[in-house]
Amino acid sequence: MTYQIRSNPFRWAWPLILLILACGAPLPSAGQMPAPRAPAAQVAPTLPKREPANVMSYEHADWLEREGRAETEKPEMVIQAMEIREGMTVAEIGAGTGFFSRRLAKAVGPSGKVYAEDIQPQMIDLLKKSSAKEGIANVTPVLGTETDPKLPAGAVDRILLVDVYHEFQKPEPMLAAIRASLAPGGTVTLVEYRLEGETASHINVKHRMSVDQVLAEWTRAGFLLLNQIETLPSQHLFVFSGKRGARPR
Ligand SMILES: C[S@@+](CC[C@H](N)C(=O)[O-])C[C@H]1O[C@@H](n2cnc3c(N)ncnc32)[C@H](O)[C@@H]1O
Repeated sequence: MTYQIRSNPFRWAWPLILLILACGAPLPSAGQMPAPRAPAAQVAPTLPKREPANVMSYEHADWLEREGRAETEKPEMVIQAMEIREGMTVAEIGAGTGFFSRRLAKAVGPSGKVYAEDIQPQMIDLLKKSSAKEGIANVTPVLGTETDPKLPAGAVDRILLVDVYHEFQKPEPMLAAIRASLAPGGTVTLVEYRLEGETASHINVKHRMSVDQVLAEWTRAGFLLLNQIETLPSQHLFVFSGKRGARPR
């Protein structure tokens, strides 16, 4: 005679169910089961999602010198936030036609120096012409690459990036090179159109950035936020120190 031993499929579930009932907790349904968690050390810090925008072509360079730009974008407030002193060495990365570099040249005075850097040779030609037209002699044009702005190491007191960081196709090596070019106590000023709200709604969203995106990417690259200014009409302005762990001024 054979005996068929039928095992009860709920045999192992009962002790668990009783334990949960004893704790007064509701039974989780299959869809409510908590997902297994990775140990904290294995969770990579996430950056807000962002695709770099296309590089603005020199063919649209007129837009950088458009009438009324100085009134709507307040470049004097940007220069003021940089706390430039006469005789300083300053650089503009992604200088375009030199709209800001010419103003920086005046701020540092004849004893100071401005490196005006861009990756498009045609922009370099345009900024040379615009500086010559205004009789500016202390701007040094620099043709950089997508990974290296070719600035002297440890020598630049102030660096300005206006409406260019979001175009970097390779932000990590650029940020590392920018940090390496800062002189002791040097700072970087970053200006980007606001992604949040409506103040920059006239600008394509691909050419705008949020505070979260900027701070996540720049602090990860070792920069320390010293100041954030939100009084420009359409743009965020951030001042960073390249000194990891430095105290705010
Ligand atoms: C929108 S324009 C802004 C020009 C200038 N900053 C201004 O506000 O008038 C962006 C400029 O950044 C330059 N650019 C883009 N990617 C760059 C990079 N990785 N390094 C340096 N310049 C870059 C472009 O060639 C272009 O001239």
